[in-house]
Amino acid sequence: MPVIEVELGDAGYPVCIGANLLANTPWWSAHLPDGRVLVVSDDRVAPLYLDALLAGLPDRAADSLVLPHGETAKTVENWSRILDRLIALQAGRDACLVALGGGMVGDLGGFAAATYMRGIPFIQVPTTLLAQVDASVGGKTAVNHERGKNLIGAFHQPRAVLADVGTLDTLAEREYGAGLAEVVKYGMIRDAEFLAWLEARPAAILARDPETVTELVTRSIRHKAEVVAADEREAGVRALLNFGHSFGHALETVTAYERFLHGEAVAIGMVVAARLSELRALAPAGTAERLAGLLAGLGLPTRLPAEIPARRIIDCMGLDKKNLGGKQRLILLHAAGKAMIDSDSSIDQITQALEASR
Ligand code: GLY
Repeated sequence: MPVIEVELGDAGYPVCIGANLLANTPWWSAHLPDGRVLVVSDDRVAPLYLDALLAGLPDRAADSLVLPHGETAKTVENWSRILDRLIALQAGRDACLVALGGGMVGDLGGFAAATYMRGIPFIQVPTTLLAQVDASVGGKTAVNHERGKNLIGAFHQPRAVLADVGTLDTLAEREYGAGLAEVVKYGMIRDAEFLAWLEARPAAILARDPETVTELVTRSIRHKAEVVAADEREAGVRALLNFGHSFGHALETVTAYERFLHGEAVAIGMVVAARLSELRALAPAGTAERLAGLLAGLGLPTRLPAEIPARRIIDCMGLDKKNLGGKQRLILLHAAGKAMIDSDSSIDQITQALEASR
């Protein structure tokens, strides 16, 4: 079983990767604190994996709370429901929240763990590719506000992450594809060799060949762990993980979170950012086409819908919390495999890149 350590001193933790880990009793005993356990899940994941997880908890009475699925459930109201349950259980500081599900459950459950009694331990059990390779590692927790995604949140590192790649077997094709966007992101921002590895095996990736998936998840988590260890609070290099996300978040917002999955919006956003990098002569010609080719081969969208005006995306980006001092702070590319933070793009250049991405 590959185990990757997120090196954060006292706040460091292991990410365990493998198949059929959910019911692995020794694993649980090693990582659970002594107090009450509340498993938070959603109504899609719970019928599939909640029983297996509960059966794996050693001699432990665990409670569970099943919330509606989907990004629209990542609300203050559902955060409050988790806190109500913890209070009803008389959970103390030695309690542990286990987040079983995708990014929504991890972000929301993590935020509840971050805020209950000023912070209790939590364990991430991500069941989507996106959550395994990105959201479950790094301690970003949040809920959405109607004015923007993840506007209310906290950094709160999990005590451990259990990435059971067996849970990816039941993932809908679109959900799996959306996770692949974040995998491609690691290649684009910091690992040209990984990018070539991905380009060489789209069929095995799409067929979810177990060895390929385990390697793909392991390599991605290693990248995430290294970046988080270098910059836990996003003062510098961690911002590179936002490649494609400023455009992607704006696209999700203007389409009311209904048209694109997060990873799909990020896929389009990465292509726009790559086009902007070329337009600014920061990256060689052909970088965006190469990226678009890889994404399309993995079944992901790469074009901005014709009916969404560039202006709407740009207006929406004005609210993006990653902007500093009113400038458009964006993650651009030097090349496929090397990203940079840049604040020098003009609105005209951004508009051109958006228009060129239709
Ligand atoms: N998903 C970006 C980050 O964790 O920093």
